[in-house]
Amino acid sequence: MKIQKICCIGAGYVGGPTMAVIAKQCPDITVTVVDINEARIAAWNDENVDNIPVYEPGLSAVVAEARGRNLFFSTDVDKAIDEAEMIFISVNTPTKTYGEGKGQAADLKWIELCARQIARVAQGDKIVVEKSTLPVRTASTLKDILTHTGNGLNFQILSNPEFLAEGTAVDDLMNPDRVLIGGDQTEEGKNAIEALVNVYARWVPKDRILTTNVWSSELSKLTANAYLAQRVSSINSLSELCEHTEADVNEVARAIGTDSRIGPKFLKASVGFGGSCFQKDILNLVYISRTYGLHEVADYWEQVIIMNDHQKRRFAKKIIRNLYNTVSGKKIAFLGWAFKKDTNDTRESAAIYVADHLLNEQSKIAVYDPKVTEKQIFSDLDYLGSRSPEENRKQLQAEKDPYKVCKGSHAVAVLTEWDEFKSYDWQKIYDSMLKPAHIFDGRNLLDKEALKAIGFQVHAIGSTN
Ligand SMILES: NC(=O)c1ccc[n+]([C@@H]2O[C@H](COP(=O)([O-])OP(=O)(O)OC[C@H]3O[C@@H](n4cnc5c(N)ncnc54)[C@H](O)[C@@H]3O)[C@@H](O)[C@H]2O)c1
Repeated sequence: MKIQKICCIGAGYVGGPTMAVIAKQCPDITVTVVDINEARIAAWNDENVDNIPVYEPGLSAVVAEARGRNLFFSTDVDKAIDEAEMIFISVNTPTKTYGEGKGQAADLKWIELCARQIARVAQGDKIVVEKSTLPVRTASTLKDILTHTGNGLNFQILSNPEFLAEGTAVDDLMNPDRVLIGGDQTEEGKNAIEALVNVYARWVPKDRILTTNVWSSELSKLTANAYLAQRVSSINSLSELCEHTEADVNEVARAIGTDSRIGPKFLKASVGFGGSCFQKDILNLVYISRTYGLHEVADYWEQVIIMNDHQKRRFAKKIIRNLYNTVSGKKIAFLGWAFKKDTNDTRESAAIYVADHLLNEQSKIAVYDPKVTEKQIFSDLDYLGSRSPEENRKQLQAEKDPYKVCKGSHAVAVLTEWDEFKSYDWQKIYDSMLKPAHIFDGRNLLDKEALKAIGFQVHAIGSTN
């Protein structure tokens, strides 16, 4: 079966870039990305491609090439479902905030809504592709809804989890390490798998397209994120030990990273991982394991989250301790708010939790991030509900000028590893700060020796001064 029309439900950080790249690479396939969020769709359709809602290096050029040719963004979900042979579901699957499984299980209400909408609208057979990250065995729920509430049509469910990393999404999509497609092992299932393989095979070498059964594919995505996050928590746990033993975590990471069995990636100690996926996917894995009564398995993975929360708290406490045990009324400059560089995504960013801790201690905070808006920063803080929105606005300010943010501060804290921070005029910043001028480098980004030579008191992660 040759696919001619694709629909993707969900125009977020995954749906937008993924479909833009499919449209770029397959000019003969019409790709329509739909969303119920009108503002988001309007931003994807903004005449100026620099205003699209997701910041990713290279993405606006891809959108500029394909949009209006074979890539469309729309709020007309029904029409797009009806017209497409293949429907990707790429909606959000956050951690549940209520009821059974609160704080751990994935909230699948948006997934279920999509399935019911597809069932109601579809007039012909469809291949439904899970692009969202889902708990293992979700495909059977989708199948159940589609077959019991649909118009007697044939639905094939595929799992095609997305492995892109924000900040490098376009590169990751253009040159993926692998594409994973899980499907039923029946003849119809295999045909559906082949239809999707043929889409990716336009630009991905066949040996990088892995096919499995649905359950392996669903579980592989959770497992991949759990492994990646575990590496971060592992090196972060050692960063604390380094600070007590005069070992240097960067040297330890280099020494172990040259072991080909370990490898050099994801060995950078930091203030802690963030992003919308790692935490929620591990919590989900923990929840699933517990529902099967596998408590040792659940406890094992939960420790990755416990370590990460500890690392964020530890960073905030270190700032307070070094500012003579009080930050009340003191200005602290935050460089970075996004959860990592080269993205405007702030979900679960370590900066939010470090700020919250410091604001509880009555500090003043000034924030600069090259891509995150003031509106987003306040929305992140208000969401925590730790204090009133008015208090948040009284204690924290966001600025567009990093030098203004640092001026008059007792300390600068680096929360995101944006490259531009490295080339700032640090002498100028030092001159404008209160003394002693502290730098807390939560990403081990800056040149520690150069800063010390200027006169800064430098506090890195995982090494003593
Ligand atoms: N962000 C990542 O780096 C990443 C990477 C791999 C996988 N994932 C997974 O992909 C999924 C989507 O993540 P995201 O970061 O793109 O989320 P997102 O919140 O940025 O986007 C989801 C979009 O879906 C829309 N939506 C929700 N319900 C809808 C409905 N019924 N009809 C139409 N639109 C609807 C929302 O309005 C939102 O715009 C999640 O399951 C996530 O775990 C994310």
